[in-house]
Amino acid sequence: NSARRPLIAGNWKMNVGGPEAMPLAAGVARAAKEFSRVEVVVAPPYTALAAAAHELAEAKSEVGLAAQNMHPEVSGAFTGEISAGMLRDSGASWVIVGHSERRQLFGETDEMVTRKVAAAIAAEIRPIACVGETLEEREAGQTLAVVERQVRAFLDELAKAPGFGVVAYEPVWAIGTGKVASPADAQEVHAMIRGLLARASIGLASATRVLYGGSVKADNAVGLLEQADIDGALVGGASLDAAGFRKIIEAA
Ligand code: G3P
Repeated sequence: NSARRPLIAGNWKMNVGGPEAMPLAAGVARAAKEFSRVEVVVAPPYTALAAAAHELAEAKSEVGLAAQNMHPEVSGAFTGEISAGMLRDSGASWVIVGHSERRQLFGETDEMVTRKVAAAIAAEIRPIACVGETLEEREAGQTLAVVERQVRAFLDELAKAPGFGVVAYEPVWAIGTGKVASPADAQEVHAMIRGLLARASIGLASATRVLYGGSVKADNAVGLLEQADIDGALVGGASLDAAGFRKIIEAA
């Protein structure tokens, strides 16, 4: 749908954090080799990053490794937190920031998400910055306004390194619910995001991948991915099975 290379990312969430990460990473590595036009990223829990990195290196795989969160400071007295530099040491070169589960369950604000995007870019870790409206916000007709506010918060940071960061639109009501946004509804939001990126610079708009997330499965991926401004998918549940994830990579 454009000159942008499609990107399929698997967010394992708080699953597959032990030895079972190795066969899953190896399975994704095999699938990604079949479809080299597509860029593939996996995001295991912190505890499985090093094992997954090892597995991907063994397979001589180009699959990227992401963490699911990070702390914006470089180091210090932040018990239980992980910095961008530590992610690099674990073999990650990507990080998901501002996932709606972090915003909703862990109180992450637009300001915090922006600090994380900035810190990730400064550490040369590629951020996948997530945005998306809740069901109440959608029903109140606030979808575009909410997503615009969330994107504007980190727009200037993304503009410092056009194409390095990625935006993921994940309507909260579609996450883990089996309810997927229609391709047309998703495209409307993606087009608005593209417009915001273009206001910062045309280069930013043309280089930035905007992913859709929320109950993406093999059978709905094609309709979403053929939309002009949908450049890939951020997949939750369906990324935990290598064969199912492979079909989504194939769809891209
Ligand atoms: O980050 C991916 C995500 O939130 C979507 O999850 O399980 O609905 O694909 P799922």
